[in-house]
Amino acid sequence: MGNLVSICDIKDDVHHILDLAIKIKAGEVEDKPLEGKTLAMIFQKSSTRTRISFDVGMYQLGGRAIFLSSNDLQMGRGEPISDTAKVLSRFVDGIMIRAIEHHDVLELAHYSDVPVISGLTNIEHPCQALADVLTIKEHFGTLENKKICFVGDGNNVCNSLLLIAPLLGMDISVACPKGYEPDEHILSIAKEYADERNTEVTVSSDLKVALDNVDVVYTDVWVSMGDESEELQRKLDLSPYQVTCELMNLANDEAIFMHCLPAVRGQEVSADVIDGSQSVVFDQAENRMHAQNAVLYHFLKDD
Ligand code: CP
Ligand code: NVA
Repeated sequence: MGNLVSICDIKDDVHHILDLAIKIKAGEVEDKPLEGKTLAMIFQKSSTRTRISFDVGMYQLGGRAIFLSSNDLQMGRGEPISDTAKVLSRFVDGIMIRAIEHHDVLELAHYSDVPVISGLTNIEHPCQALADVLTIKEHFGTLENKKICFVGDGNNVCNSLLLIAPLLGMDISVACPKGYEPDEHILSIAKEYADERNTEVTVSSDLKVALDNVDVVYTDVWVSMGDESEELQRKLDLSPYQVTCELMNLANDEAIFMHCLPAVRGQEVSADVIDGSQSVVFDQAENRMHAQNAVLYHFLKDD
């Protein structure tokens, strides 16, 4: 039994899961592979894409999903995560959780007898990264030697991209102001993966350096869920990193624009970029479901 809390958890399976996602999207797997299976979905934070895509995905695979707001669970009143994990394991075949604290998901996975899939924490967003690489592969036909630049706040979405890019033969650069660098531990693992596969992982505050020879320009909100108290400071510090047409011109001519959504037009990205011809943000959103269906198939299907 495995879990998907970090991209590191699937480092040896990432090619397989991506191929599976392409097959599932093309309708090339058996009908209802998860018939009779139930996924519990715990949400400690808001969601549009993650909630809908897991719910519809489970339905398409022949199973069902149960939405559990953490406020309605006894966990929200202090029941230990370990007891919650053990009880849910008696009823369901998998647990998806969007959590405030990454360590809570690790604890849930430790005590659970069924696979635990992260739907975002403060540290990572692995399902998003899988959908993103699926989208890039569909667009360019390959991932090998493609370069992605993450612009802005080195957050959870950035961390998962840093881990997945080198595993798939991509280069990745991060363009961020001082103080907004990605997680140090994740960065060191990403650099190890890159060394093993001869790819590059770099971080720079210089936009021109980071955007040199880039095929994918990616950004995310400046104020992630939980960062609201820092909103004013963040807007000040990150304003030079807004993705505008001028910034897009620093990347390759054929470069695409990506964003995990939800987006704030006029902050991390200008409206003409996100709503323009280089943007693939809605393909990305749709691919959340196809990528996650592959994850669900991989972790929940009986052999
Ligand atoms: N990208 C993403 O995870 O969106 P939601 O917050 O709407 O789930
Ligand atoms: N970085 C954002 C991603 C939302 C999908 C957040 O954590 O709020």
